[in-house]
Amino acid sequence: MNTKRILFVDDEPMVLQGLQRMLRQMRGEWDMVFATGGEAALKLMAQAPFDVIVTDMRMPGMNGAELLQQVMRLYPSTVRLVLSGHADRDLVAQCVGVAHQYISKPCEPEQLKTTIRSVCIPGGDQASEEIKRIAGSIIHLPSVPLLYSRLRRALEDENATTQTLGDIIQTDIGMTAKILKLVNSAFFGLRRTIDTPHEAVAYLGVETVKTLVLANGIFCESPALETKIFSLESLWHHSLKVANGARAIAMAEEADRHIQEASFVGGILHDVGILLLAANFPEAYDRVVEIVVQEHIPVPQAEERLFRISHAEVGAYLLGLWGIPGPILDIVRKHHWPLPALPKGFSPILAVHTADALSGLKNQHPLFEGGELDEVALENAGLKDRIAVWRTLLSNTTGA
Ligand SMILES: [Fe+2]
Ligand SMILES: [Fe+2]
Repeated sequence: MNTKRILFVDDEPMVLQGLQRMLRQMRGEWDMVFATGGEAALKLMAQAPFDVIVTDMRMPGMNGAELLQQVMRLYPSTVRLVLSGHADRDLVAQCVGVAHQYISKPCEPEQLKTTIRSVCIPGGDQASEEIKRIAGSIIHLPSVPLLYSRLRRALEDENATTQTLGDIIQTDIGMTAKILKLVNSAFFGLRRTIDTPHEAVAYLGVETVKTLVLANGIFCESPALETKIFSLESLWHHSLKVANGARAIAMAEEADRHIQEASFVGGILHDVGILLLAANFPEAYDRVVEIVVQEHIPVPQAEERLFRISHAEVGAYLLGLWGIPGPILDIVRKHHWPLPALPKGFSPILAVHTADALSGLKNQHPLFEGGELDEVALENAGLKDRIAVWRTLLSNTTGA
């Protein structure tokens, strides 16, 4: 196993000594370096690369958010974590764009170890340097302007409920990903994972969501997409169609309510990698669309030609860094044909895969014309005889 290099940054030497003591038993697994302040951290990073940086927020001179901005620009492959006190809730919300995850101080050694370990191996061996480099350079995850203004209006209404807010957030890829990132971060100290926007809003409370959106701007720090051919709206329509279709399939299979919702969220997020690539590499993504249209090849194949990775890999990798629950990552990573071996019976990934493959039959943007249905996976899951039912269902609910 190769040793991971972790850099800890704090302005107080006592805090660093405490961390050093607390993490002594990790010395075999990690090469740990401790820096007093942002400037010292950047000097160390210039000497040798680090896999992970863990920084305090409130520091004199360069604060944690400024330091992470620099790290993102200079060393995009380094995973950026914030270790911050509860009083810094506002500061944490401010760096939602630059930090991958937040951990609250004081923290249990186990929690710190688990979080660092989880970001060290997202995607296991598949997390190539190329994915790390591309995912690390990603900062924009735009929302559909119409949905963002709808959310603002709802928040300005005194009678806003968690249901209304959840309903709006869950139809937008960027907002869904960001709220799940925030609520699942170790900062909030949850003992379980939250995998739907409704649960996230209920947990945070309407007032906190209001502050995060209206005061901290967690959903709007990114500009509009700069692509000329690819359109955010086409991706939005496709994601909604797949989400509605996947939920309809889960309902038809009489899956419980939570599984139905998880199928919807999986559908919304399944192509998050497309949004990430298109928003951050607009010219290259326009080229992907051109190749798909001219050569009639599957989207992942065109993406691999330009980026050496596909949207499925980059999406899952980044959501993993953000601490988004494993079942969602699985859907994002594996939604294209062929599916891996799955357990017998229904699972949300089958619903998302089927809705995605069959959703493009009518009036879709060429990028979302649908793909090949993995009938072998459905047969192995014992659900092959359900395909005809699902097909009819999709054409009734989503017009596929
Ligand atoms: Fe896809
Ligand atoms: Fe798709």
